[in-house]
Amino acid sequence: MNAKKADIGLVGLAVMGQNLALNIADHGYDIAVFNRNPDRTREFLAHCEQAEPSKDRVRGHYDLAEFVQSIERPRKIVLLVKAGDGTDAAINSLLPHLDPGDIIIDGGNAHWLDTIRREKELSAAGFAFIGSGVSGGETGARFGPSLMPGGSEAAWASLKPVWDAIAAKVDPVTGIPLPGATPGQPVTGGVPCTAHIGTDGAGHYVKMVHNGIEYIDMQLICEAYGLMQNLLGMTAPEIGAVFKQWNQGDLSSYLIEITGDILEQPDPVAGGFLVDKILDTAGQKGTGLWTSVSALEQGIPANAIAEAVFARSLSALKAERVAASAVLNGPTVTPPDDRAGVIESIRQALYCSKICAYAQGFQLMAAAEITYGWTLDFGTIAQIWRGGCIIRARFLQKITDAYGENATLRNLMLAPYFSQALQSGQTDWRDVIALAVRNGVPVPAFSSALAYFDGYRSARLPANLLQAQRDYFGAHTYERTDQPRGQFFHLDWSSATRDQIAS
Ligand code: 6PG
Repeated sequence: MNAKKADIGLVGLAVMGQNLALNIADHGYDIAVFNRNPDRTREFLAHCEQAEPSKDRVRGHYDLAEFVQSIERPRKIVLLVKAGDGTDAAINSLLPHLDPGDIIIDGGNAHWLDTIRREKELSAAGFAFIGSGVSGGETGARFGPSLMPGGSEAAWASLKPVWDAIAAKVDPVTGIPLPGATPGQPVTGGVPCTAHIGTDGAGHYVKMVHNGIEYIDMQLICEAYGLMQNLLGMTAPEIGAVFKQWNQGDLSSYLIEITGDILEQPDPVAGGFLVDKILDTAGQKGTGLWTSVSALEQGIPANAIAEAVFARSLSALKAERVAASAVLNGPTVTPPDDRAGVIESIRQALYCSKICAYAQGFQLMAAAEITYGWTLDFGTIAQIWRGGCIIRARFLQKITDAYGENATLRNLMLAPYFSQALQSGQTDWRDVIALAVRNGVPVPAFSSALAYFDGYRSARLPANLLQAQRDYFGAHTYERTDQPRGQFFHLDWSSATRDQIAS
């Protein structure tokens, strides 16, 4: 038995936990690991023994008290367990074994209100709690995720060296992710994709918004694919080649890159291309839903993000859609002549819609900052999304720059770079949506993003009529354009003599 205590502990050896543990070990930290089911621990240790250069730094435990005792105090214990009840159960099982000052770090996709509650309860009991978003899937966890921690400054100071070490790294000048690590060979240098996001639930909230943006980013890519397939009659590998080309330009991102790979993947079983064999029903685990609910609750028009969630819901109604397709007819598709021109227009539509999607995500975080009393640094958030996470993209450097130029930027669309991009792309964007609508190809995310753009840039909307309707049937009152804001009027619409200042 090694006498030196472990630097850190980790509970939960599912895929993310195993990979994060190995990442931590690769960076020179001795890590104690524990899993509720001991077989999983045994299998993991056997794998480490056989294949992992950092195997000597990984110490498995089968007894929780022993596991906790083996960690240097104040202890840092990372949880990677099933979010929700699983997290509460893991915390409750650890509590009797902890000492004051120990820190629990929840790396799951927790709901931010749960994180606020847990932080409050644990700090009242003398412990510290960090809710940290972890993005990048299993490869990210293993070789460099984007990490979004929320909690007290003191707890963060203790965790920071480990989180800085294991996070993805980007080039300090270009913001481009540094080439990936390999087992036992971490990336050295570069700017780590992690930063203290704020107190209590801030890290998990920001991770949730990351996921909301992930949903719309993916949906927009799917709509571009759907247009090329259904309108232009292109095959999967032809479309894949387009995405690979787009990945060389402004749209360069992890999601565009993997889309190119996916579309070129032959079906290893039945011939043809795999994507054509995959059932068109999308699943979801709830973070896009949470983002949309939070937007609705705070009155933030994140309509494109919500649309991406609804698009998944619609896709899941497969049997209904198949039945409806035999009853409800749309227009006959008329393929346009100028294939190359339409592809370029789709690229512009994708880019403009993406700007709106991110604008909505950042607008939502700005609202949450006030609602939950956080101090968020949007430039830093964009910075730590440049590498490691699922939405990593060249585009994030532009967002970082925009907040660098103006830290109090009200809406991303108003930053000079983005307003110019919207200006130059909007004709193509509108043309693509018009073409899709005429041909009956659904583009809900493209069009809801455009509706957001058109709504946001409208000094006057038809909501005057809406407010009149509310007053008509419910005496809900209205403000007048010729009177100061904040003064409310009501008209007795049946007599309609003169409106009155509402009491
Ligand atoms: C990440 C991802 C990840 C998320 C999956 C699945 O940042 O690594 O966001 O946290 O769980 O993408 O999400 P859905 O099942 O909801 O698509």
